[in-house]
Amino acid sequence: MIARTISVEPFDLVVFGATGDLARRKLIPALYHRYLAGQMPEEARIIGASRRPVGDAAFREEARAALAEYVPAHELHDDVAASFIERLSYVSVDATSDAGWPALAEKLAPNADRVRVFYLATAPELFGEISRRIAEAGLITPLVRVVLEKPIGKSLDTARALNDEVGAYFPEEAIYRIDHYLGKETVQNLMALRFANALFEPLWNAAHIDHVQITVGETIGVGGRAGYYDTAGALRDMVQNHILQLVCLTAMEPPASLDADAVRDEKLKVLKALKPIDPSSVGTVTVRGQYRAGASDGGAVPGYHDELGRTDSTTETFVAIKAEIGNWRWAGTPFYLRTGKRLPSRVSEIVVAFRPIPYSLFGNSAGPISANHLVIRLQPDEGVKLWLMIKDPGPGGMRLSHVPLDMSFAEAFNVRHHEAYERLLMDVVRGNQTLFMRRDEVEAAWGWIDPILEAWKASSDAPKPYTSGTWGPSASIALIERDGRTWHEDER
Ligand code: BG6
Repeated sequence: MIARTISVEPFDLVVFGATGDLARRKLIPALYHRYLAGQMPEEARIIGASRRPVGDAAFREEARAALAEYVPAHELHDDVAASFIERLSYVSVDATSDAGWPALAEKLAPNADRVRVFYLATAPELFGEISRRIAEAGLITPLVRVVLEKPIGKSLDTARALNDEVGAYFPEEAIYRIDHYLGKETVQNLMALRFANALFEPLWNAAHIDHVQITVGETIGVGGRAGYYDTAGALRDMVQNHILQLVCLTAMEPPASLDADAVRDEKLKVLKALKPIDPSSVGTVTVRGQYRAGASDGGAVPGYHDELGRTDSTTETFVAIKAEIGNWRWAGTPFYLRTGKRLPSRVSEIVVAFRPIPYSLFGNSAGPISANHLVIRLQPDEGVKLWLMIKDPGPGGMRLSHVPLDMSFAEAFNVRHHEAYERLLMDVVRGNQTLFMRRDEVEAAWGWIDPILEAWKASSDAPKPYTSGTWGPSASIALIERDGRTWHEDER
């Protein structure tokens, strides 16, 4: 299958924090891919902005190195890369003083009528001040957009303050809060699966679905990010944003259209229907863990405290939660969520576990009858598997097996894997906010997370240790098995 590419309008993209990790690892390679695909027009300009007093040449050199490191060799074409790099330039701008702003204004002046994007790939503490300086430098034009990277706050109050600061200068329609999980191919496929097929939606409720599991496992540790991570933890870093967004897309009502606000209205209703977790229930419906030394990624790895260089941290690197959605569709169907670092494999998936059949016609010799599971795999091998019971082929009586109807997207569609940032960056230019979080969504998510954080803080329990390379503390297994269920493991 050939990917279709529709070119976007010419744009100016200013990346604050242009010499940082995100720009090198994700943004520059994603833009290169869109240029290679013919989606980014020749007239587009990418303007790096940060405090470092370097010039165009040095910035381009860094970008070239980033491409060499992060774009697979067979996709890196020298002539295309050279021409892409020419679209890049650099202005030294200080986010916290007047230095450099006139130069940035001068650079942008000729293109006041085109789409202008400010990408804030900086510490969130700078979002407010950069927004103010953008406004004071007269850089807000009718087609302006600002992109905010997570974390949007550390709590409901701090998220509100941050949204207020940026909102003082940019209208909500111009603010694009990135959650890169929404740019993943399979996440959008979830919408296609639910709303472009007649098969699932009639069964998509508590009467037919026993429970849902969402797992986002990583094999990496916190490594060089320990400084940031220790102030965040798995609940803030992964659950408040990525995992709750997956809950929303799985649980929401069919929106009236795919318009950004129609979809976001429905997601918001899910967030608001999440049953609060308070100090009386936190011990039974949440588990937090912290990894110790062990084996992962094929070798021995240090524990969290060793990486951090301190032994007093109680930051969680693993969390499991039994969440409940209090509405007619989902009452009685728990959503089990878990995520962690240094788990046995890098896997992100949503498992929709249907209820068992009401009555079996088959005797003991047929073997056990497992319930149907729909497994939506986000990574590593994107695809959908529907687990069904079938008769074992051949003679020997009626013996049954649980087997998957397996659709691997990589095999079914011969297209390269798109990084989430490629789509999201182009959506910003196109002015499509569907895959970005609206202010009220982010705040509603914090509204559910805050009491968990507070209850943890008030409790004398520390996160439970787990050995790197295992699926977290045993309490996480107990969390689901207590209910007579079990975490899904791919049976083949
Ligand atoms: C980021 C988190 O948002 O998502 C990281 O801050 C995490 O801690 C990453 O590793 C996971 O993203 P992906 O796309 O690799 O699943």
